[in-house]
Amino acid sequence: MKKIALFASGSGSNAENIILYFRNKNGEKNEAKIEFPLIVSNKADAYVHERAKKLGVLSFTFSKADFETGNVLQHLQALGIDGIVLAGFLLKVPDNLLQAFPDRILNIHPALLPKFGGKGMYGSHVHEAVVANKETESGITIHSVNANYDEGAIIFQAKCPVLPTDSPDDVAAKVHALEYKHFPEVVEAFFQ
Ligand code: GAR
Repeated sequence: MKKIALFASGSGSNAENIILYFRNKNGEKNEAKIEFPLIVSNKADAYVHERAKKLGVLSFTFSKADFETGNVLQHLQALGIDGIVLAGFLLKVPDNLLQAFPDRILNIHPALLPKFGGKGMYGSHVHEAVVANKETESGITIHSVNANYDEGAIIFQAKCPVLPTDSPDDVAAKVHALEYKHFPEVVEAFFQ
């Protein structure tokens, strides 16, 4: 069984969706062979902790310094973690984690990279920029993580139309639907 840590900074709806997908899967004959024993956050008040409690999954909050000095890495190694999925995680992943998990960290970005990526481009800021730029489509990008924000190898993209009447919230809803549909399956294929 591969053990994957979920990192999340906010609501954690993707983290919950992934956990539920694999729970259902592991209940079937054709086991996915991946489990998610913990959620790591950099925000103590993030809603993802409520979701973790409800799901019966461990969740921890670490400071930015804990990530950078290797405390988080030590914790993950002590639990025998094999890889990391960033599901709405907003800190830059430090070198110690990149080196310990080469090609084993996956991120989801709520737009069609390389457009609308980079520092400051997260969550609702992305959808506001997409609408302000009068884009006719948006979508999701799932990519492996390297030292630069949103620049790792692209593994999967899916698109949705953006209508002239769409608000940033409308775009967010379409993008979230794509995330819920595709992210668990891409995680499964990547780590198997
Ligand atoms: C998701 O839309 C994810 O793509 C985005 O944050 C949202 C988290 O939602 N990630 C980024 O913007 C990373 N740059 P959730 O907490 O409900 O899963």
